[in-house]
Amino acid sequence: MINKLLVNSLIILLTFSFCSCSSDTISSDKPIRDGELLISKSKTFALGFFTPGKSTYRYVGIWFNNLPIKTVVWVANRNSPINDTSGILTIDPNGNLVLNNNLSTIPIWSTNVSFPQSQRESTSVIAQLTDIANLVLMLSNTRTVLWESFDHPTDTMLPYQRIGFDRKTNQSWSLRSWKTDDDPGNGAFTVKFSTNIGKHQMFLYKHDLPWWRAGHWNGELLVGLPYMKRDMDVINISLVEDDNYVALSYKMYDKSLMSRVVVQQSGFVQAFMWESQKRQWARYWSEPINQCDNYGTCGTNSNCDPSNFVGFRCTCLPGFEPKFSRDWYENRDGSGGCVRNKGVYVCGNGEGFVKVESLKVPDTSVAVAKGGLSLEECDKECLRDCSCTAYAVADVRNGGSGCLTWHGNLTDIQKLTDQGQNLFLRVDKVELADYYKKPKGVLDKKILSSIVVASIVAIIIIVILICLYYLWKKKTKDKMMWQLNQDSSEEENGAQSSTRPNLPFFSFKTIMTATRNCGHENKLGQGGFGSVYKGCLVNGQEIAVKRLSKHSGQGKEEFKNEVKLLVKLQHRNLVRLLGCCFEKEERMLVYEYLPNKSLDFFIFNQNQRSSLDWGMRFEIICGIARGVLYLHQDSRLKIIHRDLKASNVLLDAAMNPKISDFGMARIFGEDEIQARTKRVVGTYGYMAPEYAMEGRYSTKSDVFSYGVILLEIIAGQRNTHCEIGRASPNLIGHVWTLWTEGRALDTVDSTLNQSYPPAIVLRCIHIGLLCVQENAMNRPTMSEVAFMLCNETPICQPQKPAFLFNGNQDLQESSTSGGGSSINELTETTISAR
Ligand SMILES: *[C@@H]1O[C@H](CO)[C@@H](O)[C@H](O)[C@H]1NC(C)=O
Ligand SMILES: *[C@@H]1O[C@H](CO)[C@@H](O)[C@H](O)[C@H]1NC(C)=O
Ligand SMILES: *[C@@H]1O[C@H](CO)[C@@H](O)[C@H](O)[C@H]1NC(C)=O
Ligand SMILES: *[C@@H]1O[C@H](CO)[C@@H](O)[C@H](O)[C@H]1NC(C)=O
Ligand SMILES: *[C@@H]1O[C@H](CO)[C@@H](O)[C@H](O)[C@H]1NC(C)=O
Ligand SMILES: *[C@@H]1O[C@H](CO)[C@@H](O)[C@H](O)[C@H]1NC(C)=O
Repeated sequence: MINKLLVNSLIILLTFSFCSCSSDTISSDKPIRDGELLISKSKTFALGFFTPGKSTYRYVGIWFNNLPIKTVVWVANRNSPINDTSGILTIDPNGNLVLNNNLSTIPIWSTNVSFPQSQRESTSVIAQLTDIANLVLMLSNTRTVLWESFDHPTDTMLPYQRIGFDRKTNQSWSLRSWKTDDDPGNGAFTVKFSTNIGKHQMFLYKHDLPWWRAGHWNGELLVGLPYMKRDMDVINISLVEDDNYVALSYKMYDKSLMSRVVVQQSGFVQAFMWESQKRQWARYWSEPINQCDNYGTCGTNSNCDPSNFVGFRCTCLPGFEPKFSRDWYENRDGSGGCVRNKGVYVCGNGEGFVKVESLKVPDTSVAVAKGGLSLEECDKECLRDCSCTAYAVADVRNGGSGCLTWHGNLTDIQKLTDQGQNLFLRVDKVELADYYKKPKGVLDKKILSSIVVASIVAIIIIVILICLYYLWKKKTKDKMMWQLNQDSSEEENGAQSSTRPNLPFFSFKTIMTATRNCGHENKLGQGGFGSVYKGCLVNGQEIAVKRLSKHSGQGKEEFKNEVKLLVKLQHRNLVRLLGCCFEKEERMLVYEYLPNKSLDFFIFNQNQRSSLDWGMRFEIICGIARGVLYLHQDSRLKIIHRDLKASNVLLDAAMNPKISDFGMARIFGEDEIQARTKRVVGTYGYMAPEYAMEGRYSTKSDVFSYGVILLEIIAGQRNTHCEIGRASPNLIGHVWTLWTEGRALDTVDSTLNQSYPPAIVLRCIHIGLLCVQENAMNRPTMSEVAFMLCNETPICQPQKPAFLFNGNQDLQESSTSGGGSSINELTETTISAR
């Protein structure tokens, strides 16, 4: 008992003495030198000198104290580095916090506050690092704040910090990106509130031009950040504003959660939360995310629909037409925007308002907020004023209140799937009449007659089909049958019978007939999961049948459920799965058949390669990106492919790329994959290091494989191709070497004969190198890849890629936890090639 007490008090004593030696305060007699640290009271944050990335300079910064990844959140001397380790941070005789070095008497950096003579006594001033990462300069007796680092943010916003401005004190709080990973100096991108008149709104600027509009606060969120709503039960975001003041800040309800918002030098604003189990930062949103986020990409008076991947994403608002119709329709360049239809007057001429639904409402620099008005009053108000072009609810909470009226051209509208708002748009009487006609069911004569014709045709077709069906049923009983018999009848009781014909199950017999008993002459190839056969159904449709290797360990029902889900995935860059067959321990997947071969047949063959010009290659690169993006993000399932490779990309007759074998990971089941990783999934040359070595996979491992394919398409060589006289034993290494020497274009396939746009090819190589970076965290997401391919945004420099399987030396280097045996297994499994 006494012993225990003694031990306890000893521990308390020890902790106490330990606490007292790491200080959180700087004073004139207790400065901080390079190598020393200031630690906040709860030990969450540290302040000290650091060197970013490959730089050789020293900076004073604040970072998270206890994280394995050094995450700098504030830099004092971002634009005036110290070039040696003689820096010292202290309080000068005037009471300012200053950063000096050994050589000069002029401070390198200073808080630069001027105070009354009476207070000018350095001993009475201290600087304290608080638990929320705020460095506060204050009078030690009264604790009056003289200066705080929260008023001078760099690229990071933390809880309790604010972004905004105060016209009365001429202060503004904004975030500005670093120049590069190695240089925290002022970069190109800034996040701040616009000081224009109109309703306050936040922007991401590139230099001084709007790049992305986060928009105004609609009571619940910033209109350009619809995700905010999703996180509302974790994060409390609030905005305080009046005519001269606006400040946005946030805090976490659970104070132990660590988070940060950063403006990256690559032009993205991103929010992260620390995942303590995985010991890494998880990104929970990133903007801009689609092409419509580019400020004003469709000009004025237009609506941008980001989900329109195939067609043109810009459309004019009702009552408007393209200003430059040639650019608009032929070149698909929407930046000229739209103007009111010719000869239309919307002032005292029977005009009114039509509702355009679910939008990111327009730029509010030409908008006025009118509190206290209901929507009807708002309508009247706007109608009375001929300069008013549109209106919307100002505060969406509790069913909506207040009124925002726009006076002028409407800019930067986007269709939102979630959290969009309705905009009431001023149109002339013709447009207005059209609008009110439609929903009331008063149909145009033209429409009516076409509907009648269509119905008659449909009825005839149905009748013919029914006749054909009965004829066919009589003739052949055993060909192509939907297998829905004994076993499925129990489950059918619950399900709607109307789904029956859609059940994608083929009988074993149908398949066998179609593929002539899986004969050798019908075999198309052998893949990692089994063999592929060509077949032809009785209705003439050509199919490809994949006979899966046995013992895949999944139950029948699970298998069927997976297939039902996968059949619903439809995208022009995915091979269509038509159905499956499950009988007698056999499992087969039935796909659409594509007449052209797979990508590897074209790009790795000396003769075929020359048939692919740069335009086709670029289309293929973009198409694969769209397909993978769909799998990762846009489909409901979120699928990680895990075996992306050139031979899994098929080309249709028009050379559109189509990804095959997706969902294979799901069909084989999670445990199965883990256990079989080394034998089944993954192909030599395409596997990301973390997956190959530790079996850890994520969407980022697909990004890696995509990067390999991209570089292969450009070079016309396999990653694993080894060329005599080349320093690197694989393609990635070779590209990287040339890239660092500034000769990246030397890798481009010689059969292209220099006929390609060098800037775009370089950009693609750049993106490819970003995808194959060693560290999965650094690789872009697939949506970023798609965005970078289509937009000329600046992109960050790639870091050294992973050189896997390059012979012994590199293997040892990159296999941190794998050990020798798994490598042997891996090299044994050069399955690929179908
Ligand atoms: C540091 O930089 C300054 C100016 O760039 C230079 O004059 C000085 O010699 C440098 N000091 C060292 C130690 O390199
Ligand atoms: C300052 O520089 C002198 C020589 O220029 C050197 O002797 C001294 O150690 C330096 N002091 C610090 C703190 O680096
Ligand atoms: C301090 O302020 C003055 C004038 O306001 C300015 O000229 C000077 O550059 C500032 N110094 C630093 C280190 O910011
Ligand atoms: C704010 O700045 C403006 C112009 O830049 C100046 O006229 C005004 O006096 C300043 N106000 C304060 C309180 O410093
Ligand atoms: C959110 O923060 C604001 C301002 O800090 C505060 O007034 C409000 O009560 C908080 N909301 C909740 C639900 O805690
Ligand atoms: C709106 O844009 C058109 C042409 O794009 C321009 O002529 C007009 O002056 C603009 N209107 C306003 C109020 O800025």
